[in-house]
Amino acid sequence: MAEGGVGTSPQVFVVDSQASYTMPREEKPRWARGSQNLLLLLVGLAMLGLVVEGYFISNLYKKTEEFSICRSHPFCQNMSDSKNKGGFIMTQIGSNEISNMSPTQAQVHKRPFAHLMGSSNPVGEKDVVQWVNKGGEAITQNMSYDKGRLLVEIEGFYYLYSKVQLNAAEDCSLIQHKVMKNTSAYDQSIELMKSKSFRCKTQKPVNPKNVDAEDLWNSFLAGIFHFQSGDEIFVTLENIKKIRSGSTYNFMGAFMIFP
Ligand SMILES: *[C@@H]1O[C@H](CO)[C@@H](O)[C@H](O)[C@H]1NC(C)=O
Ligand SMILES: *[C@@H]1O[C@H](CO)[C@@H](O)[C@H](O)[C@H]1NC(C)=O
Ligand SMILES: *[C@@H]1O[C@H](CO)[C@@H](O)[C@H](O)[C@H]1NC(C)=O
Repeated sequence: MAEGGVGTSPQVFVVDSQASYTMPREEKPRWARGSQNLLLLLVGLAMLGLVVEGYFISNLYKKTEEFSICRSHPFCQNMSDSKNKGGFIMTQIGSNEISNMSPTQAQVHKRPFAHLMGSSNPVGEKDVVQWVNKGGEAITQNMSYDKGRLLVEIEGFYYLYSKVQLNAAEDCSLIQHKVMKNTSAYDQSIELMKSKSFRCKTQKPVNPKNVDAEDLWNSFLAGIFHFQSGDEIFVTLENIKKIRSGSTYNFMGAFMIFP
């Protein structure tokens, strides 16, 4: 009974497949063709809309870019009167004009910044980390350095960062990395950023290769802060003796982002 069924089914299949070849193509009704055309038209319109929108956005972007570069310069304050001249005038401004500008105008071109590197003798009084401010990759501009402190000369918002590395291979120790500010308005130091860690030596399986392996701890802090002229920024480190001295393991720096 079951075999008979299997034997007959290919015949049924063959007949069906032949029938599908001989079936006449069904013409689409008129309304279907009409709606297909309408759909194509709508898609076309949407694409055109996107292209036009893109053109306007790129135009607007160019205009705002031109304006933001120019806004702070006196030559550009008349730009709304003579838009096309604006770009031309900007290219004419050489270094002579910049050096003749008042300090506030010069700020735009010479933003203060500093990058201080780890010293070979980084341990200072009251856990204040000491830095190298000249030579190598260390640099300061319109900021100065004195005994571990980075001094702000020009008021503004600064991006401030600091990284330290310690060797915490000891039984247990509390490690605290802080970035502090001393400002004339308060007679107490202000904490700007802090990271804290309590480390105990991990019991590793005995491996003759790294019996005295170092347990290194890294901390990186960064943020944006407002500083007045005369503010002092410094880094303190609890357990400072464990700092891993080296100019690239430890560093701090800042740069003005506004105005
Ligand atoms: C801006 O234009 C005004 C008159 O439209 C003129 O008096 C002034 O000097 C111009 N300022 C600059 C910086 O060119
Ligand atoms: C910033 O430093 C430059 C030299 O690097 C100096 O000419 C300029 O006067 C300084 N600006 C301020 C406001 O101190
Ligand atoms: C910061 O100010 C406090 C309080 O005036 C002072 O004790 C401390 O020595 C100052 N720190 C630095 C690094 O100047």
